[in-house]
Amino acid sequence: MRALTTSVVPSSDDYRSNRLHYEGLLADLRKRLAVVRAGGPPEVVALHKKRGKMMVRDRMTALLDPGAPWLELSPLAATGLYEDQVPCAGLVTGIGMVSGRPCVIVANDATVKGGTYFPLTIKKHLRAQEIALANRLPCIYVVDSGGVFLPMQAEVFADRDHFGRIFYNQARLSALGVPQIAVVMGMCTAGGAYVPAMCDENIIVKGTGTIYLAGPPLVKAATGEEVTAEELGGADLHTRRSGVSDHLANDDQEAIEICRSIVDTLPRRPMGRRQEIEEPLYPAEDLYGLMPSHPKQPVEIREIIARLVDGSRFHEFKARYGHTLVCGFARWMGHLVGIIGNNGVLLSEAALKGAHFVQLCAQRRIPIVFLQNITGFMVGKEYEARGIIKDGAKMVQAVATAEVPMFTVVIGASHGAGNYAMCGRAYEPRFLFLWPNARMSVMGAHQAAQVLVTIKHQQRVREGAVPSEEEARAIYEATVAQYERESEPFFSTARLWDDGIIDPVETRAILGFCLDLAVAVPSRRSHPPVFRM
Ligand code: COA
Repeated sequence: MRALTTSVVPSSDDYRSNRLHYEGLLADLRKRLAVVRAGGPPEVVALHKKRGKMMVRDRMTALLDPGAPWLELSPLAATGLYEDQVPCAGLVTGIGMVSGRPCVIVANDATVKGGTYFPLTIKKHLRAQEIALANRLPCIYVVDSGGVFLPMQAEVFADRDHFGRIFYNQARLSALGVPQIAVVMGMCTAGGAYVPAMCDENIIVKGTGTIYLAGPPLVKAATGEEVTAEELGGADLHTRRSGVSDHLANDDQEAIEICRSIVDTLPRRPMGRRQEIEEPLYPAEDLYGLMPSHPKQPVEIREIIARLVDGSRFHEFKARYGHTLVCGFARWMGHLVGIIGNNGVLLSEAALKGAHFVQLCAQRRIPIVFLQNITGFMVGKEYEARGIIKDGAKMVQAVATAEVPMFTVVIGASHGAGNYAMCGRAYEPRFLFLWPNARMSVMGAHQAAQVLVTIKHQQRVREGAVPSEEEARAIYEATVAQYERESEPFFSTARLWDDGIIDPVETRAILGFCLDLAVAVPSRRSHPPVFRM
């Protein structure tokens, strides 16, 4: 494979001002991460520690193999929602190595509203289980939760993807041979009691861990019986009499040691490890200087690819055709991948080329990495007449049906059907990450504003009224402001539309780890859909 060349000049004004701008974006990201990682209010943190309990992130550190990769998922979930009182959605999730095996970890943060489940907490928990299923990874649930957040019962209890789905997934995962382990380090009440109960094996901490269907106050109200939490559902009861738990630990630390020991006894699976890894020829830090400070400015995708793939080597496919989409093969941390990146708006030829390339990868069982920077498909009379819809549909169909692991990184814009053709969230990429400069919305702010102004103008004309400039300006400004706010990466990540915002420089290592996990699971054979010719 030939190496890509570069025309980047790090001493240029553009590079320097882009880099400065990017460093600002990263500083903002780090600041937000530090805030959510502190957990709940300081007085609640102090009480938690006084009770002899470890903080959720200290529990993770103790559980994970020192120095091994740890990929935290969606740490900024629920930012700006629920009056900003539920940092991290009250749940830390991620993939890390425990006793040498990659595991999905789901851990409640009891300092955040008692570790209760808000709608986005459930969404985050379910997403972690979805990742465990796709990559066949054992799940470790570190439980310390008051169950569902009762005031929002209508949004957390009865629907398909509500609280009950967690237990359904546990049963299905276990049936597929995906180990389910719980470490009970706090409360598991009512529905929450099913998390350890549905596990293959569980551990409970003496003195702090409790499991029961109804806590002491509810028991008193229902039956008049007076009982302590420990008598009702403590570690001694469950490991000696009821059999609800399998192992008793004297404290959090011992529980973690037992958990590591359980994982050590699980069958080993091959990590899709690569042998020799060639580093890119150009420094990853150049990505900061390459990404334009204004989202409308174009960026040459080959310059980005050259800083992400092994040896900057890229075997391009159909380089002379449909040039607004760049497709080709490369090695990513030793794994052979197909790469699809945008180099401008999608036209018919680009969509056909994309569909063709996705089919090639599916046929050869090669994972695909999508680098999204797409404003959408080309609009207009000429393009409609040439059938841009049916060509776009072919690419969307190919992406929807290719049975190979796909990974999406939104490196810039993500608008319109371009989001779909480039494997947006609805197309189930194994992982989807955003760069801090990403912008995601149905269309750009100014286009949306213009559409709404035009509709209002037409309405007024139909009513026989004189369209007012003032009204048009008000609609325009309100829409632009709304779209700018809602297309921010923080807006997306708060709602779990992605798996997290990542530093461009870490993209190579993060996707490399995701590829290690994904390639260990064999892909199924794809069946092509009916393409409209
Ligand atoms: N729904 C809504 N809010 C809840 C809650 C629940 N299930 N459980 C706890 N909270 C809230 C509390 O109101 C409090 O909020 P505040 O700080 O705004 O006042 C916060 O979470 C912490 O609760 P607190 O009781 O002060 O903390 P704690 O550490 O002493 O106890 C629990 C935590 C979870 C053990 C305890 O709150 C509890 O028993 N909750 C009820 C559990 C339950 O019955 N769940 C059934 C739902 S399936």
